[in-house]
Amino acid sequence: MDRQEELVEAAVAARKKAYAPYSNYTVGAAVLAADGQVFTGVNVENASYGLSICAERTAVVRMIATTGYQPIRAVAVATSNGGSPCGACRQVLVEFAPQDVPLWLIDAAGNIQSFTLYELLPDHFGPERLL
Ligand code: THU
Repeated sequence: MDRQEELVEAAVAARKKAYAPYSNYTVGAAVLAADGQVFTGVNVENASYGLSICAERTAVVRMIATTGYQPIRAVAVATSNGGSPCGACRQVLVEFAPQDVPLWLIDAAGNIQSFTLYELLPDHFGPERLL
């Protein structure tokens, strides 16, 4: 994936804008869309804690709201400690990944761990199950 560096940098830069005053765990995400655009997201917490939304889902929502449906080609997630996407975010990402895609986790020191989305959510329930 020739755009890994760009996507990683986008996730790291986005993280600075996270709104996480309750957990202090800031997350930045970037998805590479099939049309070549990069969409970033951050976690946005709320005083009513359960209304908080994760960075990965914010990025996906931005992509769809901007372009309508299109598949994603890669995902990068930046955190302090290289944390992995929550189960809800894995499921939402899979909805827009008809084929497996690379997924990179970046920590504050710049270390990158490489996975694929399907590796993180094997035997997933995707849109094809409803056809
Ligand atoms: N968070 C994300 O943004 N993405 C994840 O996949 C895991 C958790 C956020 C939610 C909350 O604002 C903070 O991290 C701590 O859970």
